[in-house]
Amino acid sequence: MSNAKGLEALTNDAVNAAELAAIAASALVGRGDKIAADQAAVDAMRTAFNAMEMRGRIVIGEGERDEAPMLYIGEEVGTGQGPEIDIALDPLEGTDVTAKGMRDALAILALSPRGGLLYAPDTYMDKIAIGAGYAEGVIDLDASPEDNIRSLARAKGVDPSQITACVLDRERHEGIAASIRKAGARITFIGDGDVAGVMMAADPEVDVDIYIGRGGAPEGVLAAAGLRCVGGQIQCRLHFRNDDERARAKRTGIEDLDRKYTLMAMASDDCLLIATGVTDGRMVHGVRKGAGWVETQTLVYSSITGVRRKISTRRPLTR
Ligand code: FBP
Repeated sequence: MSNAKGLEALTNDAVNAAELAAIAASALVGRGDKIAADQAAVDAMRTAFNAMEMRGRIVIGEGERDEAPMLYIGEEVGTGQGPEIDIALDPLEGTDVTAKGMRDALAILALSPRGGLLYAPDTYMDKIAIGAGYAEGVIDLDASPEDNIRSLARAKGVDPSQITACVLDRERHEGIAASIRKAGARITFIGDGDVAGVMMAADPEVDVDIYIGRGGAPEGVLAAAGLRCVGGQIQCRLHFRNDDERARAKRTGIEDLDRKYTLMAMASDDCLLIATGVTDGRMVHGVRKGAGWVETQTLVYSSITGVRRKISTRRPLTR
């Protein structure tokens, strides 16, 4: 079987893994314990992975082996038979919003043939991203947010006031927000979850044109995998707060710590991106329960076929 076929054949099982992680985390929505919520998602996702016929390896996970008992970077998952797959995951993207019962928490994973995803350290990353349909060079991580907004507006043929930027609601983003507003654009702030922030910029059904800001590097790789499937552009650069983080990056094999990463540098091979809603969000609804059933909504994107699906799954609660 070719690499692409082997990957595509894992779609249903991978959807199952994301759905089960979301359902497990949903039991802890609003209960004020983000660690327990994350752990529930991790446990469920790992159990599902280990039933999958693949030789899976975690490249973006819950951290390094000594700090994460499960789904740590380098951990092998799957039955040990089948294709060699690299996995980037965030079993609960938005641990805080889950604990607080707020919007936009997702269970996310990306799958690619071995070597297809950047092995990024768990540090911060500066990011800028837009959806499909624009010429290369419309955005530039090294330009100001104001200039990026003006450039995107020109490319879109609209006034900058018609552009909406998505930004993580953090104090560190005050300068970015001021620069975006100087161009006259609107801002949609999100409390957490910048994989969804980037994906919203690429989703024609959501009124977001561009994502700008600093978030986690692992989330940057997941977002790049998503854009590889649906089209779009992303540029990122690692941001280090201290020498320990620089050393961590070097340990992952990164030599040029100032490198500007493009989409293809972070998601260099075909991939699947799968995201199930834990709490309600702009792209999918969260886990819903009724008498005897639980329902999930999941985005399933494939770079192999270019197909994007939004699927709902209802399963009996007893199984
Ligand atoms: P978790 O999945 O660890 O809860 O991360 C949520 C998140 O909002 C990411 O989407 C984002 O990249 C990162 O945190 C931003 O970090 P910080 O909360 O430190 O600003």
